[in-house]
Amino acid sequence: MRILVTGGAGFIGSEYVRTLLGVPGGGAAGVPAWKPPQVTVLDALTYSGNVANLAPVADDPRLRFVQGDIRDHDVVDRAVAGQDVVVHFAAESHVDRSIAGAAPFVTTNVLGTQNLLDAALRHGVARFVHVSTDEVYGSIADGAWTEDWPLAPNSPYSASKAGSDLLALSYHRTHGLDVVVTRCSNNYGPYQYPEKVIPLFVTNLLDGHRVPLYGDGGNVRDWLHVHDHCRGIALVQDKGRAGEIYHIGGGTELTNKELTARLLDACGAGWDRVTPVADRKGHDRRYALDITKISKELGYAPSITLDTGLAETVRWYRDNRDWWEPLKAANA
Ligand SMILES: NC(=O)c1ccc[n+]([C@@H]2O[C@H](COP(=O)([O-])OP(=O)(O)OC[C@H]3O[C@@H](n4cnc5c(N)ncnc54)[C@H](O)[C@@H]3O)[C@@H](O)[C@H]2O)c1
Repeated sequence: MRILVTGGAGFIGSEYVRTLLGVPGGGAAGVPAWKPPQVTVLDALTYSGNVANLAPVADDPRLRFVQGDIRDHDVVDRAVAGQDVVVHFAAESHVDRSIAGAAPFVTTNVLGTQNLLDAALRHGVARFVHVSTDEVYGSIADGAWTEDWPLAPNSPYSASKAGSDLLALSYHRTHGLDVVVTRCSNNYGPYQYPEKVIPLFVTNLLDGHRVPLYGDGGNVRDWLHVHDHCRGIALVQDKGRAGEIYHIGGGTELTNKELTARLLDACGAGWDRVTPVADRKGHDRRYALDITKISKELGYAPSITLDTGLAETVRWYRDNRDWWEPLKAANA
């Protein structure tokens, strides 16, 4: 089985590639049953893409890396030709950047996805896995979203992801393309670009700097270790039903204040290192996914507890300054 992984040099995509090739970056057990003969990564290497994320598998003869943009018709046509499966991670992924400027979110997340879907159709790809987010549902005060919940995205990022989800599903309904969509909660783990809250806070704290806490710190997120996310995607790729959406959650809800307390503790710092900052515009209050469907149909359950996962993650950033220091220096 030949697999094309778009965005495979990013945080989650690279974990998927390392997992496919048998080197789980999260340090936890649980890899898919199949071993693909070839994994092609298509990645534009934007600010968040990094070939260093693929260093553990760089010498694997099954890995082929193509630097290219999913918005480019010819690049995508060549990359998709001959593939059995496309697993689509490539996206502009940071909400704050979408508030500052939405254009690349629309062109990459919506038009880039459409370009890939067209190529998958032309080349008779057997399965297209579209990786998405719980943010497409907006915010939920109580309970948890099921897969049939109406979409109500609030940020340009989540609106662009919702658009791409609907396009992907439309290619199944209109053209019969074998599409499955996954929607997951907030990921954390090694190799996450240090603009997202956990690596930002950990690297700031390790450097003796302060951390910015949005608003009253009461926004609630469900945390999912990236390795569990990739196990869930692998299950969906393997056994998910065409045209279906599957939630992949971590089952651990925390307010941002509770998360901050854990990170301060793990880095040996106190609340004097926290600077309250104005809330993010349109900040969703709470996300929560119901994962009954993937649990019952595909036997998914998160395997890494937040305590273990956070401790491992903090250790990874402590031990891998060579990976994140250049990224932070480039942003300074
Ligand atoms: N990080 C999370 O917590 C989270 C949660 C839910 C869903 N997701 C989804 O998972 C996917 C991966 O997220 P991530 O956190 O790894 O993001 P990331 O920003 O770390 O990686 C994105 C990758 O896509 C590549 N890319 C961006 N634009 C491209 C383009 N036009 N052409 C080719 N490559 C391009 C980048 O170079 C990078 O390697 C995204 O689709 C995102 O919406 C992420």
